[in-house]
Amino acid sequence: MFREVQRFLGESWADFQRQFAGSLRSDIPLLEKANRFLLDHGGKKVRPTFTLLVAKALSGRCDGQVIDCAVATELIHTASLLHDDVVDKAQTRRGVPTMASLYSPTTAVLLGDYWLSKAMALLVDIPDKRVLHIFCKCLGDLAEGEMIQQERAIKGDTTEENYLNIIYHKTTSLFEAAMLAAAYGVDASVEEISCVQRYAYHVGQAFQMRDDMLDYSPDLSLGKPTGQDILERKITLPLLSLFACAPKSVSREIRRRMKNPDAEFVFDVFTQIARYHAMDYAQGRLEAEVNQAIEALAPLPGSQAKTHLENMAGQMAVRTA
Ligand code: IPE
Ligand code: IPE
Ligand code: MG
Ligand code: MG
Repeated sequence: MFREVQRFLGESWADFQRQFAGSLRSDIPLLEKANRFLLDHGGKKVRPTFTLLVAKALSGRCDGQVIDCAVATELIHTASLLHDDVVDKAQTRRGVPTMASLYSPTTAVLLGDYWLSKAMALLVDIPDKRVLHIFCKCLGDLAEGEMIQQERAIKGDTTEENYLNIIYHKTTSLFEAAMLAAAYGVDASVEEISCVQRYAYHVGQAFQMRDDMLDYSPDLSLGKPTGQDILERKITLPLLSLFACAPKSVSREIRRRMKNPDAEFVFDVFTQIARYHAMDYAQGRLEAEVNQAIEALAPLPGSQAKTHLENMAGQMAVRTA
């Protein structure tokens, strides 16, 4: 699905790919080697796909500034994964070892900083300062999101409100920056900007909700281990759904054991999730988010790009990678 949209984007997508691959040249052998590894094991590139598609839907075009923003977005995303894998002590990502396990956590953090600096170097040259502002806000949000998540994990008492706030900060803020930057880049009207902001908000929230559901889906091969969130004491959508579906006594017991999770506890939670059909509840919550994303697009004129935006939102509810 993402590939199909990337094909639709044609030359603009090819420009993005070229510029992204060329944005990280270094004379330092360790940096060059690590950058190459990351570029050779790239991800789905969902966020830059949204950047280019929003620009196309609003104006029919994608110029150099929009492509710079798409590149900066993927650089920031990669940096955030490098840092996230250190925070989460993750061993694998995208089916291969993480930088922290291949080299060291120190190297992974420095590499993340380096990718961030490359993103900022692209953004400072854009005359419309709204772009730099929205990306700077997002960088603050990403760090705050991880902090709030840590705080809740230590306390072991995440509510649905805390959860929505965490995922907005750690994930949605970058979707928002990626798409608002496109709207600014094509001189969108105030009304169009507000549509894009609402769309990006619901798409971003749905994206992380699905990611959190996939962490509970051991049958799918994701390139990253499952059951991790419980072990990291993170209460996410599937567990919140279980608390909504199961009797109070079950929820209380799980919340208590959540403070000291082990493999057996993960197994017990998975069993209760199946017993109380919590994944169906979670899927309903996710689909409501996707519908709101699609509704946000209603004021925009019909076009092939708009249809792709609607389909991309729909994909958030069913994606398996
Ligand atoms: C993973 O994002 C991190 C989250 C915000 C859930 P992606 O699923 O977009 O990661 P890649 O780049 O495709 O590996
Ligand atoms: C999302 O958090 C990562 C970022 C926003 C950087 P997770 O910790 O849930 O993401 P995965 O599961 O490691 O990809
Ligand atoms: Mg992680
Ligand atoms: Mg994390």
